[in-house]
Amino acid sequence: MTTPEEIGILKNSIEVLEMGLLKLEHAQDVDPMLTENILLEVANKMTNNYPYHHPLYAGQMLKPPHPVARLAYTLAMQINPNNHALDGSRASSPMEKEAVQQLAHMFGYERYIGHLTGGGTMANLEALWIADQIHPGKVVVASEHSHYTHERISSVLKIPFRKVKADKWGRMDIADLKQQLERDTNIGTVVVTLGTTGTGSVDPLEDIIKLQQEFDFRIHVDAAYGGYFRLASNLQKKVSRRFAAISKVDSIVIDPHKHGLQPYGCGCILFKDPSVGQFYNHDSPYTYFTSDELHLGEISLECSRAGAAAVALWATLKHFPLVKNGGMAEGMNRCHAAAISLYQKIENDPGFITLFQPETDIVVWAATGTSLSEISRKNQQLFDYCARQDLHLALFNYPAYLLPDHWEEIAKDQDYVTCLRSCLMKWEHIDWVDRIWEIIRNSITTTTD
Ligand SMILES: Cc1ncc(COP(=O)(O)O)c(C=O)c1O
Repeated sequence: MTTPEEIGILKNSIEVLEMGLLKLEHAQDVDPMLTENILLEVANKMTNNYPYHHPLYAGQMLKPPHPVARLAYTLAMQINPNNHALDGSRASSPMEKEAVQQLAHMFGYERYIGHLTGGGTMANLEALWIADQIHPGKVVVASEHSHYTHERISSVLKIPFRKVKADKWGRMDIADLKQQLERDTNIGTVVVTLGTTGTGSVDPLEDIIKLQQEFDFRIHVDAAYGGYFRLASNLQKKVSRRFAAISKVDSIVIDPHKHGLQPYGCGCILFKDPSVGQFYNHDSPYTYFTSDELHLGEISLECSRAGAAAVALWATLKHFPLVKNGGMAEGMNRCHAAAISLYQKIENDPGFITLFQPETDIVVWAATGTSLSEISRKNQQLFDYCARQDLHLALFNYPAYLLPDHWEEIAKDQDYVTCLRSCLMKWEHIDWVDRIWEIIRNSITTTTD
């Protein structure tokens, strides 16, 4: 939460902005009493939330923006630039271009075209739309563990879509992909997820690149969640190699509003071939006047976009440049270390059963039991117990047929099992693993069926 010190920083920086902007007289009337009353009402309403900002919120993918992002966003909001056209974002469009360049360089793209988007869904939509412009009517395939957005987007764009099986580690099953490519020469794009939403698994990108040499298709990487793990130095070697191969793919999505410490409303799409810009070609009779330089709206499907999002990202990257051994890299190492630490504690306790070792920072596990229905019931109870102790986890229905071999003895009396799931994506989580584990451990001894 914002500290008095941060409020002081914000006040000083707003003064600089105000003085720099032509010293126009104050033009907006505010009724302070009414505003305060409304704000207090808002604050009261907002208390009806889980404490998403705190490390004991370890459920879904939620992470507070870094203070520098929050402050820079608020500062930019004083004038609310729109990064559609340069006319509306003289300062913040160049900042977006610089920030996007850092993201592109992190992935090893030297030449590229890209921009920020409202989020991962919009960024993936642009990737699949461009793929369809390049080879109209060809099929998009993605793992059954890919984000549901790919199937939906394909349906919106009227692109044929098919699923590829997942393996027992939640990654794309390479044998099934190969079979599908052999059977169907009309597959145009393979969506590769580096960091799946459910388990944080990392699809075998290197093997998929090898298949690309045999069967001609585009590779689109959805790294909305996992992209920043490219900087981590403590992942399993084989997982690091998959992230390292990303510079070879045709397009990449990363969401700074997931791991990149940004407020919501900040995704990013990158294309390796800048000439795809031609497909965006359009004119705007209303906005593209004041400069011959590229207006970001010329290479984006969205029209208005928050300049404040670009300013916040730019400021965050000043603080945490995307370099090996930098603060962001260390933050990603901490997330992975937290997940491995919690995983090992759960793995070594006979009261629990895990799925597999986390490849990034999502842990999935369950209370032990004799059948999937019994385990699902228990997990719901543990989830409720933990929430009462202020530890917020997530539930995840995992398909029975994908369960790993060490679940063999458990009766498959239903076709899924409700597991517990935790995204340890806050840099502070590593310092809270013992406390989190204590609550989880107590949940099994305290909860009776
Ligand atoms: C891998 C992946 N892709 C895409 C998305 C969709 O992104 P957004 O929620 O920003 O639209 C998500 C969201 O969780 C995701 O995890």
